[in-house]
Amino acid sequence: MRLACLLCLATLTVVSACAASAKKYDPEFTLASETVQEDWQLTKDKCLPCHGMDRYFNHLELYSERRDIEELVRDMARKRGAKISDDEQVRIVNALDWHRQQLE
Ligand code: HEC
Repeated sequence: MRLACLLCLATLTVVSACAASAKKYDPEFTLASETVQEDWQLTKDKCLPCHGMDRYFNHLELYSERRDIEELVRDMARKRGAKISDDEQVRIVNALDWHRQQLE
């Protein structure tokens, strides 16, 4: 029981730390359309339960084309416990691909 509480607390701490660190990318999306901003919110909701967004943004060189992002999101949607539908995958790719285009 006590261990369960501790584990629960630890998980909560990790998730909220990830959510806070993901916010640092919000300003980069302020120029995007409302649709893309909503898709970015969805992206965070779907990726953060497993890990921080740094895992993506620290290695943008690996995702220099839309296809690379599509492949990544498809891989992540296949991970055990990921709840990302086909429609949501498209929206997530749209958000990350919008960001990619700003870097071109
Ligand atoms: C169900 C858990 C889960 C979800 C949801 C998830 N990931 Fe991952 N992700 C992982 C794991 C585990 C790894 C570690 C490497 C591996 O197993 O491929 C990883 C690795 C990565 C990597 C490192 C490169 C790679 O291919 O391994 C990136 C980038 C990444 N994830 C981005 C994302 C993005 C963006 C999302 C949201 C669309 C997301 N992840 C959602 C579990 C998840």
